[in-house]
Amino acid sequence: MKDFLFGADYYPEHWPRSRWETDAVMMRDMGLDVVRLAEFSWFMLEPEEGKFNFAWLDEAIDVLGKAGIKTILGTPTAAPPAWIIASDPSIEPVDSEGRVHHFGGRHHDCQSNPTYRKHIARFVTAFANHFGKNEHVIGWQIDNELGNSHDDLCHCPSCQARFREWLKAKYGTADALNRAWGTAFWSQGYQNFDQVSSPMLTATGGNPSRDLDWRRFCADLVLEFHEFQADIIRPRSPGRFITHNLMGFCDKFRYNELARTLEFVSQDQYPGGHFRPDLSENRFAESGAELDFIRALKDQPFSVMEQQSSITGWEILGRAPKPGQLALWSLQTIAHGADAVMWFRWRSCAMGMEQYWHGLLPHSGIPGRNFDELSTFVRTMKPLLREMQGAMPEKQSAILFSYDQNWAARIQPHHPEMNYTGHIMSYYRALHARNIPVDFTFPDRDWSAYPLLIAPLWFLTDPDENEKFRNYVKAGGTLVLTCRSGIKDATNLCLTDHPLPAGLTDLAGIEVDEYDCLRDCENSVLWEDHAYPVLKWADIMHPVTAEVRGTWGGEFYAGTPAITRNSFGSGAVWYIGTEMSDDLALAVVRTWEKECGLTSLGTADAGVEITVRHGKERSWLFVLNHTDEARSVELPEGWTLLQGTEGSTLPPRGYRIYTRA
Ligand code: GAL
Repeated sequence: MKDFLFGADYYPEHWPRSRWETDAVMMRDMGLDVVRLAEFSWFMLEPEEGKFNFAWLDEAIDVLGKAGIKTILGTPTAAPPAWIIASDPSIEPVDSEGRVHHFGGRHHDCQSNPTYRKHIARFVTAFANHFGKNEHVIGWQIDNELGNSHDDLCHCPSCQARFREWLKAKYGTADALNRAWGTAFWSQGYQNFDQVSSPMLTATGGNPSRDLDWRRFCADLVLEFHEFQADIIRPRSPGRFITHNLMGFCDKFRYNELARTLEFVSQDQYPGGHFRPDLSENRFAESGAELDFIRALKDQPFSVMEQQSSITGWEILGRAPKPGQLALWSLQTIAHGADAVMWFRWRSCAMGMEQYWHGLLPHSGIPGRNFDELSTFVRTMKPLLREMQGAMPEKQSAILFSYDQNWAARIQPHHPEMNYTGHIMSYYRALHARNIPVDFTFPDRDWSAYPLLIAPLWFLTDPDENEKFRNYVKAGGTLVLTCRSGIKDATNLCLTDHPLPAGLTDLAGIEVDEYDCLRDCENSVLWEDHAYPVLKWADIMHPVTAEVRGTWGGEFYAGTPAITRNSFGSGAVWYIGTEMSDDLALAVVRTWEKECGLTSLGTADAGVEITVRHGKERSWLFVLNHTDEARSVELPEGWTLLQGTEGSTLPPRGYRIYTRA
């Protein structure tokens, strides 16, 4: 896929020229192969319009290249310099309250602004012409963490105009748009597209259909912004890859669509978060899920462009990673399918907002505990990682992910604490705790390899997709639908011509008559003679062809179905009328394990993660103890220990890697 294994994000422009050789030699000695450079250095590269100053970057690339370190170049378009903004302040983005986000941080750019596009075209053309064929430049990253441009995507006049064009292309006529958005409500009808605007601050709640289309438009705009730059770079930099540093479940645009255009995807992985107070085992399943999600984007191994290398934070700091924790997190990344890991960043910098977002080296530049720990990690992992390139886990269970469902749930979460990824995690955590490999998949993919497919919060439906679900189940698949499935059409209008879950009713074999939002209260589900407390939501339903497997424990609907199973063709459909607690999900997953023939990779105490990667000739099993205590593990026969010490328990934050042919 690519010719690097370990690297760091490096900012030579933050350091005196006299330090560069020292850094390059230290990187080489640590075993690094690659750096990412320049993704925030527009002003230093073009201090005046059209006057390019590429010499310092030529020199940095050369110094690093001579030490055997290759370069990935970032286009610096997430931080346009002040002179560009001064040339046309309309480049600055506008939020939904009409406030301009000014120069002085980063992401102070509107991605549709025509003046800004001209500046980008000029700069990126010169940049790619100059560096595109440099022997040490192996690839590109366009912008940085796309979609992160600002919290609340841009509502400036240029974006409004683009939104209207997008709507015109989608709906053709104002009448069609009025129907799709249900504008009969609150007199929201439009005579023509010129009257339509983005969802800015309203006097009261907005229109869920407009909100959903706005998110779809913003997603398309971000993709188009990427392609605009990629089209400039590709012909000028033949044979080089383009990748992007993505952010797990961040939903500002459709990562799976961007992934199609990239040679491979990359992730920014900060298990300690921005300044997370607790670095214990609580979040290891979330980190694992994010990595599994990133691997799913191309259904192939990925790389990590920014892996946490020390204590993090901006104004406020998080906890100091404990001994062994950084190596453990880096291994978790590999254990979930990374073929390369780059740490953010080489050295803690002395200036700017990220002074305390520490690097492999502390401010002093003198190696310390974290540097030593990760140097040992690189040394011991490098031969193994080289062998592991391309290795993937087996396909057992999959969670169907849809950005549209995510946005629909964000627009109307139903319960203040309900959200799409949180709901997904209730399933992921249970499968992960049972050490069953979990994939994510997307609506346009082939699902047939998975005996178990979970489609969480499937609010929005369309007839073709319903048919695809039907065919999957008829052919023997087990499909899990969850509460609030099948309630809407694709434009976010409620379905009215059939009881819920509307077009999925025959599949689920139930009808949902009513529902109860469990605000500030709990109910329980009786499952196999045990009452499990649940929060947030209760679908109240009756079976049509399904068998009842779990019932409500309380309220006026006590005794009615909460969980059902319907045989359909050669497969089955489960309907889970709530968001399950971890205990309940674990109990239900054990049933699915038997029904779908899922195989656990091993048994371990809580807080220990077991994952697998299969290569062409051998497989690797990873056992990671994310806790601060010794933990025990039991594995099936046949695995030979490669790294770590054998023993009845795994030490705190310890790991083992096994292999078998
Ligand atoms: C990432 C970003 C980096 C740096 C880092 C630490 O999200 O890509 O540029 O800002 O976070 O804050």
